[in-house]
Amino acid sequence: MRKGPQKATGEDARIQAKLQSDGEIPRHIAIIMDGNGRWAKQKGMPRIAGHQEGVESVRDAVEACGQLGVEYLTLYAFSTENWKRPQEEVSLLMRLLLKALKDETDRLHTNNVRIRAIGEISSLPQEVQDELAEDIEKTKANTGLTLILALSYSGRWDITRALKQILHDVHSGELKKEDIDESSIERYLSTGGIPDPDLLIRTSGEIRISNFLLWQLAYSEIHITPKYWPAFRRVDLYEGIRDYQKRERRFGMVSEQLSTKRDTPSYFDRVIRSVTGQQP
Ligand code: IPE
Ligand code: IPE
Ligand code: MG
Repeated sequence: MRKGPQKATGEDARIQAKLQSDGEIPRHIAIIMDGNGRWAKQKGMPRIAGHQEGVESVRDAVEACGQLGVEYLTLYAFSTENWKRPQEEVSLLMRLLLKALKDETDRLHTNNVRIRAIGEISSLPQEVQDELAEDIEKTKANTGLTLILALSYSGRWDITRALKQILHDVHSGELKKEDIDESSIERYLSTGGIPDPDLLIRTSGEIRISNFLLWQLAYSEIHITPKYWPAFRRVDLYEGIRDYQKRERRFGMVSEQLSTKRDTPSYFDRVIRSVTGQQP
C-alpha cells in the first residue's frame, strides 16, 4: 500500500517544488468552501449540482495539500446555520456527504490521510454519524495530512461547548479556576491540540468569517478568491499559498523583531544601544 499521495507530475510538480522552496508551506489551512449554489445557478443547474461538483474540488485540494506537506486541512462543509436552509437542500446535502464519505475514504486511506470531524456530530443523520465514525477509525493511524471536516459546526457553538465543559470540570475539581488561561481554553475547543490555521481561504468573494473557527482564526492570514468553490482547483490553492508567503506575520510585534538572521542584532538590542550609546 502506498504511504502518501501519489506524487505530482510535470508542470504541477514544478509548481509545488517552487512553492516549497520559495517560502513556508502553511501547516494548517482552513477553507470556507462557498459559492456552490451560485456556481450552479450561473450554469442553469440546481443548487445540488454545485454541491456535487464541490466534491471534485475537495478531492483536488486534499490531494494537493497532502503532496505539499500541509499537516492539517480544515474544511467548512456545513455550518450550524445551514440547518436553516430549505429542508430539501439539507437532506440532499446530507445524502451527498454520506456518498462522498463512502466513495472517497478508501482513496484517502491509501493516500495516508487521517480523517477527523468537528461540530455537533450528534445532530447529523444516524447513517452519516456511523459512516464518519467508521472512516475516522479506519484512518486514525495515518500519518499524512489530517483532514478535518467541520460539520454542523460554528465557532460560537465550539466556544459555548468548551465553556460548559470548563465549568463542569471546575465544579468537579478536575480543573482549578486559576489554571484557566488561553492554553487551557484551547484544549477544550474541538480543535484541541491542533495548531491554529495559518491560512484561511474563502471562495466566492464573500469577505466574512460566517461563524467559522472564531477563536482559532485570531492570527490567521486571510485569502479571499472570487472563484466559486466548484471551480476551485489546486492552482487556486497554490495562488492562496503564494499570497500567504508574501505576508509578514507580525503577531502584534514590529517588523524588526521578526528578523531571523542570527548575526543581526535584535530590534531591542539596537534600541537599547541607540538610547544608551553602548557599543556591542
Ligand atoms: C457552500 O455553498 C456550501 C454550503 C454552505 C453547504 P453555498 O450553498 O453557500 O452556495 P452559495 O453561497 O449559495 O452560492
Ligand atoms: C459558510 O457558507 C458555511 C459553509 C461554507 C459550510 P454560507 O453560505 O453558509 O455563509 P453565509 O450565509 O453566506 O455567511
Ligand atoms: Mg454560501
